[in-house]
Amino acid sequence: MEQYIIKGGKALAGEVTIGGAKNAALGILAAAVMTDEQVTIENLPDVSDICIQLQAIEAIGAKVERIDRHTVKINGGTINSRSIDDDFVRRIRASYYLLGALLGKYKYAEVALPGGCNIGSRPIDQHIKGFEALGAEVKIQHGMITASAKKLVGTHLYFDCNTVGGTINVMLAAALAEGQTIIENAAKEPHVVDVANFLNSMGANVKGAGTDVIRIKGVNKLHGSTYSIIPDQIEAGTFMLAAVATKGDVTIKNVIPKHLEAITAKIVEIGAEVEEFDDAIRVVANKRLGHTQVKTLPYPGFPTDMQPQIATVLAMSSGTSIVTESIYENRFKYVDELARMGASIKVEGNTAIIDGVAELTGAKVCSPDLRAGAALVIAGLAAEGVTVVENIELVERGYENFEDKMKELGASMEKVDAEDEKSNRKARLKIG
Ligand code: EPU
Repeated sequence: MEQYIIKGGKALAGEVTIGGAKNAALGILAAAVMTDEQVTIENLPDVSDICIQLQAIEAIGAKVERIDRHTVKINGGTINSRSIDDDFVRRIRASYYLLGALLGKYKYAEVALPGGCNIGSRPIDQHIKGFEALGAEVKIQHGMITASAKKLVGTHLYFDCNTVGGTINVMLAAALAEGQTIIENAAKEPHVVDVANFLNSMGANVKGAGTDVIRIKGVNKLHGSTYSIIPDQIEAGTFMLAAVATKGDVTIKNVIPKHLEAITAKIVEIGAEVEEFDDAIRVVANKRLGHTQVKTLPYPGFPTDMQPQIATVLAMSSGTSIVTESIYENRFKYVDELARMGASIKVEGNTAIIDGVAELTGAKVCSPDLRAGAALVIAGLAAEGVTVVENIELVERGYENFEDKMKELGASMEKVDAEDEKSNRKARLKIG
């Protein structure tokens, strides 16, 4: 088991480059198997969730060739199975995108039913509603979800809730259905748009992605393509808040500033400075920041995937802040860990009431999920003394070279094997 050891108190400074968007890549990799021709995906983030998605694709017979760390060639022409194993779905929920992709291509797919996870129960009723509306028969038996159809026919669908996964999954299947599908109340997240753009680069006809009505004219088949994934909005936002928390001066390169507007607005509101360039953003903080209210909402609202990170910054800001989580019911598990570092946060239902303290102090904390783990790293970077963050395999699901990128910005942070006392001692000496 690896862990981060962080000596806090250093202002982050310098430049960091953001990688490709994990959540776009998960959909794009599934979509890539929908053609029998070769697809090249560039700007792929090298994180564990992506490696698992590639293994899931390989396990059904597709050819996967890693060209370099951030480029992969995929050929779905050799697929010999339409069944995604429980093992993959347990490790990453997003392997369920293969349900929409294979249903569209072969009119049959089975995928283990994903359960809930550490941030809450995560039903997929809207995905199923969409597949059924396209004419598929969907059955859940023995832990597997099976979708089959003689043919898929375009439909007019209204989602009951705003769902990123549901929008992407139905968009994939509808791309190869007969006739037009209209998805209303579609998710507008940048990664939905990126999957739509990728499908279009393969010859699909998807219009309106990024608005709440997506129109998909089904085509007979898709062709090969070369496509570069957009920058990761959440990785960028995490570095923005790490800069703010440590009263640093960081330029975050390879970003789309428009995707970061909700985060930028909150950072400016609490008193830090944000300077926007074409594809970079500079964040400067040089004083203790103020309080605010944050409510997570679907895009373009404040992203739930940034909620633990902003709450961590507010835990060190002056005054009382209120953070309301409106997407997931259980995304405050990290609060008890922050309390070990001296934060004063009370959770009532889906609301966290944060009384800012002057300083957090280093402690041993355990990451409950990916984004909460990133928030604990931010807390450790800003805290007085040494913080040990455990369970960092969860952080590595979505952040490539996290400790190296932080170190390049001046952080005292090492990744060590918890069981290896020697490397632990060495790391502690290194961070001082
Ligand atoms: N929901 C339903 N029924 C459905 C689908 C969703 O009730 O059929 C509910 C969920 O329970 C949740 C809400 O709708 O309360 C939003 O769920 P959504 O489907 O939008 O989430 P997702 O597709 O499962 C993606 C990201 C998450 C991110 C959410 C919200 C991927 C692979 N995951 O999840 O990312 O939090 O959208 O923006 O794209 C992360 O990267 O750390 C992460 C958890």
